[in-house]
Amino acid sequence: MTKLTFHLLCILFTLSLHSTLSRTFFPTSTGLSSELNVSDSIHKTLSTLSITSPTSHPKTASFDSDLSTSSVLSLQLHSRISVHKSSHQNYESVILSRLARDSLRVNSLQTKLKLAVNGVKKSDLKPLDSQLLSEDLQVPVTSGTSQGSGEYFVRVGIGHPPSQLYMVLDTGSDVNWLQCAPCADCYQQTDPIFEPMASSSYSPVTCDAHDCKSLDVSECRNGTCMYEVSYGDGSYTVGDLVTETVTFTGYNAVQNIAIGCGHVNEGLFVGAAGLIGLGGGPLSFPSQINATSYSYCLVDRDSDSASTLDFNSPIPHDAVTVTAPLLRNKKLETFYYVGLRGLSVAGEMLGVPESLFKLTDEGDAGVIVDSGTAVTRLQTEAYNALRDAFVKRTKDLTATNGVALFDTCYDLSKKKSVQVPTVSFHFSNGGVLDLPAKNYLIPVDSVGTFCLAFAPTSSTLSIIGNVQQQGTRVSYDLENSLIGFSPDKC
Ligand SMILES: *[C@@H]1O[C@H](CO)[C@@H](O)[C@H](O)[C@H]1NC(C)=O
Ligand SMILES: *[C@@H]1O[C@H](CO)[C@@H](O)[C@H](O)[C@H]1NC(C)=O
Ligand SMILES: *[C@@H]1O[C@H](CO)[C@@H](O)[C@H](O)[C@H]1NC(C)=O
Repeated sequence: MTKLTFHLLCILFTLSLHSTLSRTFFPTSTGLSSELNVSDSIHKTLSTLSITSPTSHPKTASFDSDLSTSSVLSLQLHSRISVHKSSHQNYESVILSRLARDSLRVNSLQTKLKLAVNGVKKSDLKPLDSQLLSEDLQVPVTSGTSQGSGEYFVRVGIGHPPSQLYMVLDTGSDVNWLQCAPCADCYQQTDPIFEPMASSSYSPVTCDAHDCKSLDVSECRNGTCMYEVSYGDGSYTVGDLVTETVTFTGYNAVQNIAIGCGHVNEGLFVGAAGLIGLGGGPLSFPSQINATSYSYCLVDRDSDSASTLDFNSPIPHDAVTVTAPLLRNKKLETFYYVGLRGLSVAGEMLGVPESLFKLTDEGDAGVIVDSGTAVTRLQTEAYNALRDAFVKRTKDLTATNGVALFDTCYDLSKKKSVQVPTVSFHFSNGGVLDLPAKNYLIPVDSVGTFCLAFAPTSSTLSIIGNVQQQGTRVSYDLENSLIGFSPDKC
């Protein structure tokens, strides 16, 4: 065999291996169209309603007994539905309340960006000055206390000995906090309220400490640092900034993590004991533990299966992983932007200018990847092009009325499965992420109504939401400024 033939054989072998792999991993995607298993999606909407309590993962420590020696630090990750008992009678009401929460979420991200871009200085904000948010920027301050926010939760050990708590994971903010006794005002949570007196590692942060100065809103009381975080949607937390020990799965612990011990907490976080901020600012959890990367896999919203949030877990190098540039905004270090060139439907690029997705030097526009937003938001022009392209290629399906913010819905009640055009993200480095059909055509009831799960926004900020990320491990390589998307890697 000549060298050339050998090389050719190698290439052929690699190619066929690659296509075999693709076929194994994506048996239903051809790149142009994808199969939606209608029966399976409907079945899941029904089982959602029967998930009653987090019995599959008890509140006591459920840590692996083997002391992990790898540098990866892991936390168990659960969907909201498995942590916070659903009081909904039907799936339609599950969806409507999820979409209502989602609008508040998007508003609060946009407010945060507006404040940063308009150069509102830290010193301009005073604790409990939420009027600034409501008056100047006309963000409705809604009491959504009964709804509850946060779509995904991690199980974290806080203090010494560790109290096991459910915390919301949030890529859209930095400050970590939890509800603390004594409560002046605490909302209802699943776990007992954290008791500082019972933790030997609890230590208040002084006002001159670097962590205190990194806060957007702080106040000095008796030499110790008070924090406040408002989320622009009516939720806020106020209390002492302290350091605590944080324990991961496998008993790995990290000491002296700055975390807010909230004595006045109001808002939308029903169920969770607090929040783990995964943003890019200095006080965020990954920044504090000097993580070079982290990744999560958002399990199906409608299931009680679990996955992990891993720190120091690099982007996997495999055939299915798509990477994209991770960009940062000089005006706001919290958000993770992704370089997006455009979208395609059934392999055909939408005819919208790339500039619609570009982060400007002024810190405007751009596309962020967010764990807390459900439905991907696109600028109206881009959304309309996507919708029109999708509608044009789904003429064989029965169209039906819109639901809430969705204007493109189908009656699939008579189908077991359907072929729909593939929707893909095209990143600025050439990477292409084909979404599985269930990540963009989602059930809105249990009788077969499905909607295209994208929405327009009048803001210039686009957001890739968690519906589109489901079942995909999303890796943030902070060291090399890359985001990785690995389908089916939960
Ligand atoms: C749809 O999903 C169900 C349950 O997971 C499975 O039994 C069935 O074979 C799937 N149908 C198709 C057409 O893939
Ligand atoms: C400040 O400390 C003093 C003495 O420890 C205490 O009596 C007082 O209540 C504290 N004030 C506040 C606002 O915490
Ligand atoms: C992170 O790095 C800083 C600065 O090098 C160091 O002071 C701190 O102890 C590190 N934290 C952890 C948890 O390794």
